[in-house]
Amino acid sequence: MAIKKVGIIGGGLMGSGIAQVTAQAGYDVLLNEVNQELLDKGMARVTGAWDMLTGKGKITAEQAAGYRGHIRGTLDLAEFADCDLIIEAIIENLDHKRDLFAKLEGIAKRDALLASNTSSLPIIEMAAVTTRQDRVIGLHFFNPVPLMKLVEVIRSIATSDQTIEELRQFAISVGKTPIIAKDTAGFVVNFLLIPYMLAAIRMYENGIATKEDIDTGMKLGCGYPMGPFELLDYVGLDTTLYAAEAIYKEYPDPAYAPPTLLRRMVQAGRYGKKNGKGFYVGADDN
Ligand code: CAA
Ligand code: NAD
Repeated sequence: MAIKKVGIIGGGLMGSGIAQVTAQAGYDVLLNEVNQELLDKGMARVTGAWDMLTGKGKITAEQAAGYRGHIRGTLDLAEFADCDLIIEAIIENLDHKRDLFAKLEGIAKRDALLASNTSSLPIIEMAAVTTRQDRVIGLHFFNPVPLMKLVEVIRSIATSDQTIEELRQFAISVGKTPIIAKDTAGFVVNFLLIPYMLAAIRMYENGIATKEDIDTGMKLGCGYPMGPFELLDYVGLDTTLYAAEAIYKEYPDPAYAPPTLLRRMVQAGRYGKKNGKGFYVGADDN
């Protein structure tokens, strides 16, 4: 099936980035959010990136106008009825995602592909509420989407080979390099990255070093572009906690157990860069 129209649900950090690269690749994109304010914010993030790129001379005003013509926001999911591919990038919560997939089952056309950008949750649990398990897949982009080259294509035990190939080609068409992973919590990258970030928090909790020194250590000692605390603020403390909980649920090993400080920060409403409160942004004495 040729993919022409792509519906994206959730216009936060990830959904807006996915919308940007998908519209740039020439697909017609519909972006959905929970209310007008968040939809406007998500759309502004996408169009703001094109304004920034135009201002820097990286794209022409004509290109930016062309991209804008490929994206539209809507609050009405019923408009997704003629999408060939629907990608959800809503909060990392299995109940919310399952509710959404159940809704999509009643809206999406029979042969539409349904994808989740989940960081850690089992794809099969979302597929199970549909009658098209073979066409449900994980399509895991990385943050920031326009700059990170990887997409993990997640095969559930029910995903068909044809679906894998269609989504692998889609990832390539939006400028990414796909890798294929099985439907196990954390897939490839987060299975390695999340325990690393959790270990950094434990190291800080235990007073082994300041967060600044831990970050400097990993940047200068290992050549990482960001230290773990900068990355936690960037990824979102909420998303990291939910992903850690999902991985720990499947692998109850202490390495995946969310540290108390991470829980407390999320309980305090400190989500990182996205709401201006985190380890560095808007920090007091955490
Ligand atoms: N579209 C296109 N280009 C954009 C852009 C956008 N939306 N936003 C910024 N850019 C461009 C900028 O114009 C800039 O280009 P120039 O330098 O030519 O002007 C370029 O991108 C770099 O911008 P910055 O100066 O902001 O970037 P930087 O050099 O400081 O690098 C970074 C930023 C790429 C984020 C780098 O710090 C990095 O790689 N950090 C690590 C990120 C990472 O590990 N991500 C994975 C997180 S885990 C995850 O995603 C999985 C999960 O499930 C949680
Ligand atoms: P975010 O909090 O920035 O954005 C989520 C957005 O989804 C919010 O704007 C929210 O209003 C919207 N939303 C929630 N329920 C909705 C619904 N039913 N319908 C429409 N919109 C809804 O989160 P994010 O960082 O963009 O993460 C989204 C997904 O992508 C999560 O599954 C996360 O695990 C995954 N992910 C995150 C990262 C990252 O670095 N932040 C990287 C890869 C994957």
